[in-house]
Amino acid sequence: MGSDDKFLAYGRQNISDADIGAVVDVLKSDFLTTGPAVAHLEDQLCYYTGAAHAVVCNSGTAALHLCLLAADVGPNDDGGGDVVIVPTVTFLSTANVVQMVGGQVVFADVNPMDGLMHLEDAVAAFEKAKAKGLNVKAVMPVHLNGQCADPAALYNWAQENKILVIEDAAHAIGSKYLANGGEYQIGSCHHADFTEFSFHPVKNITMGEGGAVMCANDQFAKRAALFRSHGMTRDNTNFQLVENVDNPWYYEMQEMGWNYRASDIQAALGASQLKRLDQFIQHRRRLVDFYDQSFIGFTPELMPLGKLPNQLPAWHLYPVLIDFDGIGQSRAQVMDALRNKGIGTQVHYIPVHQQPFYTDKYGVEILPGADAYYDRVLSLPLHTMMQEEDAAFVVQTLRQIITQK
Ligand SMILES: Cc1ncc(COP(=O)(O)O)c(C=O)c1O
Repeated sequence: MGSDDKFLAYGRQNISDADIGAVVDVLKSDFLTTGPAVAHLEDQLCYYTGAAHAVVCNSGTAALHLCLLAADVGPNDDGGGDVVIVPTVTFLSTANVVQMVGGQVVFADVNPMDGLMHLEDAVAAFEKAKAKGLNVKAVMPVHLNGQCADPAALYNWAQENKILVIEDAAHAIGSKYLANGGEYQIGSCHHADFTEFSFHPVKNITMGEGGAVMCANDQFAKRAALFRSHGMTRDNTNFQLVENVDNPWYYEMQEMGWNYRASDIQAALGASQLKRLDQFIQHRRRLVDFYDQSFIGFTPELMPLGKLPNQLPAWHLYPVLIDFDGIGQSRAQVMDALRNKGIGTQVHYIPVHQQPFYTDKYGVEILPGADAYYDRVLSLPLHTMMQEEDAAFVVQTLRQIITQK
C-alpha cells in the first residue's frame, strides 16, 4: 500500500473469513433478526467489559438515544427540557440525541491539545448552566480518539451534583484507564451510569451498522431494551391490563418506543469481530507508536495529539495538530495534496456548537479550546489493514508536502 494504485483511507474495516463464516451461519439459521446471535453478543460484551448489562441495537446513535430514554431525560416542568452537558468536539449524534428526547444541550469546551472535555470543562459548563438558572441532569463525556479524560474524577463530581454520566465511547471499546489503584475497562460502567458503543465500519470493531448500551443498573437495562422495540413488553408480571395476564398472544405498550433492533446477521459479525478486538488494539498501538516516534522533531508546526497519563487507549483515530498558517498552506490544500498521493485524511470534528442548527437554537458561542483544536486537527490513516510501511509512507509524504512551501 502507499503506492499509486492503492488508496490508504483514514479508517477502514478488517473482515476475516471467520467473520464471513459467522454471518453465513446466521443466514442459514432460523433467526435473522434479534434472536440468539444478539443475545450472544450482549453476553460477550458484558464478559469483555465486565458490565452487568448490554443492550445491542442498530447504531451508536440509537444506543445514545436509548441511554437518554432509559435515564428519563426529556421534557421537564421548566418547559426547556432536561439539561445535558455535551463536549462540542464530537460527532453530531451526541448532541442530537438530546434534541430527540426534548432535552437541551449545554456545550462544554475541550482541551486544545487532546480534544477532550476534562473535569474543569464540565464544571465550567455546569456553572454556565447554573448562571442561566438551569439544572443539569446528565453529562456525556466523549472518549475522543480512544482516550478518556479521568472518568473516575468526573463520575465523583457528577455523583456529588446528582448528575448522570452517559459515556459516548463510540471510539473507545477496549480502552482502559487507571484510577484509585485499579485498572478499569471502558464500558464496565464503574464510573458511568451508561456507556454507548458504536460498531459502524470505521470503528474499532464493526457490525456493519450497530451499537450497544452498557449499564450496571437492572432497571436502566430493562428500559433500554423496552425502548429498542416499540416500548412493547410481553412480561406478564408488568401488564397494566391484568385481565390479559394469561393470554398467550398478548403484548402491551405502556410507553413510546422505536425500532432500534439489530439483526442477528449484524450481531454475528459483531461477536466474531469482538474476538479479534485485542489483536486489533495491539496492531493500532504499534502504528500509533510508530507515528509518534516518527513525529519526534519532525517540524515545529506539527504536534502529535496530547497523550493522557493513566490509561491504555484502544486508539481509534490518529490525529495530529498542524499549524496551517505556520506552514503557509490551508488544511484543504494539505488534504488534497495527500489525496493526490493516495492518502485519505479526515477532520474529527467540526465543533457541534458551530453548526447552524445549534447557533439558531442557542446563539453563537465562543469555546476557545474547541476552536483551537478544530483549527489544527487532521486525522491520518489508522486501521488494521495497514502496516508500518504504510504509516512510513504517510509520514514521508506529509514531510514533503509541509516542507515544499
Ligand atoms: C463520537 C461518536 N458518537 C456517536 C457516533 C454515532 O455512532 P453511529 O454512527 O453508529 O450511529 C459516532 C459515529 O460516528 C461517533 O464517532
